[in-house]
Amino acid sequence: MITTLDKPKLSVPGPHSAKVFGRSASLFRLVSDSIGYTSQLFQTYGPIVALNYGGGTNLYSPLPNCPGTVFVYGPEFVRQVATQHEIYYKYPLTGKLYRKKDDSARTEPLKHFVVGLFGVNSNQHRQHRQLLMPAFHKQQIESYRNDIVAITQSVLDHLQMGEPTDIAEVMRLLTMRVATKTLFGKDIGEDGGSTGRQLQDALALLTSPMTALLPFDLPGLPYHRLLTLIAQLDDKMRAMIVRKRAADNEARDVLSMLIGARDAESGAKLSEDELLGHAGVIFAAGHETSSNALTWTLFLLSQHPQVAADLVDELQNVLQGEAPTVEQLPQLPLLERVIKESMRVLSPVPWNGRVTAQPTELGGYALPQGTEVFVSIYQTHHMSELYPQPETFNPKRWEAIEPTIFEYNPFSAGPRTCIGASFAMMEMKIVLAMLLQRYRLQCLPQKVDRSSGLVVMGPKQGLSMIVHSQDRQFAQGVGGIWGNVREMAKLPD
Ligand code: HEM
Repeated sequence: MITTLDKPKLSVPGPHSAKVFGRSASLFRLVSDSIGYTSQLFQTYGPIVALNYGGGTNLYSPLPNCPGTVFVYGPEFVRQVATQHEIYYKYPLTGKLYRKKDDSARTEPLKHFVVGLFGVNSNQHRQHRQLLMPAFHKQQIESYRNDIVAITQSVLDHLQMGEPTDIAEVMRLLTMRVATKTLFGKDIGEDGGSTGRQLQDALALLTSPMTALLPFDLPGLPYHRLLTLIAQLDDKMRAMIVRKRAADNEARDVLSMLIGARDAESGAKLSEDELLGHAGVIFAAGHETSSNALTWTLFLLSQHPQVAADLVDELQNVLQGEAPTVEQLPQLPLLERVIKESMRVLSPVPWNGRVTAQPTELGGYALPQGTEVFVSIYQTHHMSELYPQPETFNPKRWEAIEPTIFEYNPFSAGPRTCIGASFAMMEMKIVLAMLLQRYRLQCLPQKVDRSSGLVVMGPKQGLSMIVHSQDRQFAQGVGGIWGNVREMAKLPD
């Protein structure tokens, strides 16, 4: 039996346990604002830092006896962690919850809920990724263009002109509709179907600190609601799989493609549990990310009138008010630079979390097996050596720079790089091109804080904007923003 005394110690520098509340104090600060707290730690201790000197913290690893939590940033650390697939493993977000409470039939669905690619490593990850690839091939992705255009059109038609509107919420609904349509072949806007919403609610409960803090299956507690929701989702999605199997048609939604996928060598298919896991991950990974990236881009454009004017010129010149075709997208270089720069300044996925599968060394420090390592995409994107005046939103810088994948990696790097990156880029370009030709969004004076950022980062309190027809009055709504977004992006007063 391993006792606390046998636990391997972490020698990575970091703060000592606080006198009051010990390690919980640093965990609390991290969970409240992962970017703010780690920025302070990096400044004090350098580019490799432990949440607690000597270890003893466990944020995400489902393995017993986690030695501690380490944060790193910079291209060399990104390279080492992203490319050493056999050393740095990934685990699903449900892993720790499941380990804590695997004592009832109600916890069964946690074993596969949002597990998919997040829950497989090594050869198994390679095999599963290969099975998923056809659903993300260029041609397949391009076939979703018409759905994205139709859903965007319908969302834009319903925007209330002249009214304060939470644009973060609008983007969330839009990307959720796109995700459910491309994943399940159903637009939730058409029939009010609730699968997408239930998945979204379950994900919110899963990542809520209260669920982790009180993992008891008692009515009224978030953990109880989570188990009830995912049991309902399980039933629904299993029925959907049965229907799709029986239909045996040429449906091109992602789930139908996964149902039909066969391993090239063995002919093996994905089991029902695996299908549920993959569908959950693709949904989870595919919509909050894009919606935050879109929201941040619209926010940055609202604060940079010249960039907004140039972008609308480019869009109107090439598209003449129409939605872009797939062939037209490469003719919009500024649009691409605006999105890239936005994801650099306000990275929608700030971290890649991993757990060491074997003892290793990083930055000169020994990391025992089971150590949690979080690589900061955000902090790497804000290194002044790589990006002079890193907090300045300057899409033009992309005319002169060509960073390596380890220097710029909003979609991560290596074998686990985002499988949906091309899909996301296409979706964001179409949505922005359609929205900006038709409307101008005026930001209202408000506090803009980032969310905790441990999984995805968006504006914590949403983003209030007034919708005008595109009248090119880009100077309206510039300034008047306070909150910690100003630590990440240089904004006009
Ligand atoms: C702006 C939008 C997006 C961003 C910034 C983003 C970012 C990322 C990042 C950083 C990772 C690596 C996470 C890690 O390894 O720890 C990742 C993985 C993944 N993403 Fe995305 N993503 C986006 C959109 C999408 C979309 C639209 C889909 C699907 C339709 C998707 C599906 C996935 C999947 C399945 C993985 C897991 C890959 C694996 O482990 O092999 N993502 N994404």
